[in-house]
Parts: sequence; C-alpha cells; structure tokens
Amino acid sequence: MRTAVLVSGGGTNLQALIDAKERGEMPHVGLSLVVSGTPGAYALARAARAGIPSVTAARRGYPDQAAYDRALVEILRARDIECVVLAGFLTILGEGFISAYRGRILNIHPSLIPAFCGKGMYGLKVHEAALARGVKLAGATVHLADETPDGGEILAQKAVEVLDGDTPETLQRRVMEQAEWVLLPRTLEQLCERWSQ
Ligand code: GRF
Repeated sequence: MRTAVLVSGGGTNLQALIDAKERGEMPHVGLSLVVSGTPGAYALARAARAGIPSVTAARRGYPDQAAYDRALVEILRARDIECVVLAGFLTILGEGFISAYRGRILNIHPSLIPAFCGKGMYGLKVHEAALARGVKLAGATVHLADETPDGGEILAQKAVEVLDGDTPETLQRRVMEQAEWVLLPRTLEQLCERWSQ
C-alpha cells in the first residue's frame, strides 16, 4: 500500500516506521512519500536518509483551508498514495482532504483517548495535563482521522505506567518508546495487510 507520512517536527514516529520497514516488519506498507507541514522540519532529514521522497506544503502558502486541502490531495494523488499516516502533523486538515482519503487516514495521539485529547491537546501539553490530573496510566492511541480533532474510530491503544517523579518530558519519552513507536508500525501493517487483500 503506497503510504504517505505527514509530519511537522522531529519525526520520531516517522523514524519508527522507517526502522520497522527496514527490519521487514511491514511487508504490506510502502513508505512512498513524506509531506512536511513545516519547512526545514527534522523529519525531512530522516526521509532523505531513508531515500523517501519528500515535499513541503505549509498552510500559510495557501489562501484558505480548501485550497490547502486540494493541494495536499493533488500531491498525494500524483504519487498514487492509497494510505495516509499523520505522525505528529500539526496542521489542521479540512473536510476536502478528509473526504478524499476517508477511512484511510491514521493518526497517532499520545494519550488513551478519550482522555487528554481534542483541540489544543498536542505535544507536551498532553503529558502536562495527565500529570496534573494524577493519572497512573498514560499511553497512546492510533485512530482513524475524521473532521473532529482526535475523533474517529479507535484502532489500537497501548497503556504505559506513570512513575513517581515523572515530568512531562520523561512521561512523553516513555509513551513514545513503549507505546507510540510500537503501536504505529504494527497497526499500519495490520491495516495495509487487510486493505491489500
Ligand atoms: C508524538 O507525540 C505524536 O503522538 C504526536 O506528536 C508527536 C510527534 O512526534 N501526535 P514526532 O514528530 O513523531 O517525533
């Protein structure tokens, strides 16, 4: 399945996909394109190192949401992309994009949805909120993206223990290592296997 990975930042989840592919763990997934919403994102360097073509498409280069959505769909369709992974992609996607790839867009979120998700809940804010609430289990969720932020069908979740003395940074790191980087490649492979039959 020709897959595009949409990124905005460091791209550690992209790296987890690249590593899983290189280990032979995602036979049904082709990492065909990386799209960055941020010029110069470090994820672009990871793509280049892995030999994956990349494109930068920043929202501010387009007059409105509909124009941005159309441009992204064109970029993906020109490369016959069948499946989309949002891996730390921070730009809002509109109905135009979602409907073009409906049911084929996976998002990874660093909490056990429905906890600590929705508008404004991204990056370290998620882990700050979890620690402030005093939860003992954190985790990550892979779900299908729809028009609602962090809405859409839940595909897989993995829990991670919160430890005494955790800071948002240490919790974020544990959630990434123990949940996100494991769950995303595994779930993507399972779906692509199903879709390619
Ligand atoms: C991850 O925590 C991911 O769950 C969230 O944004 C972060 C992206 O990190 N959606 P990276 O760019 O993959 O390193």
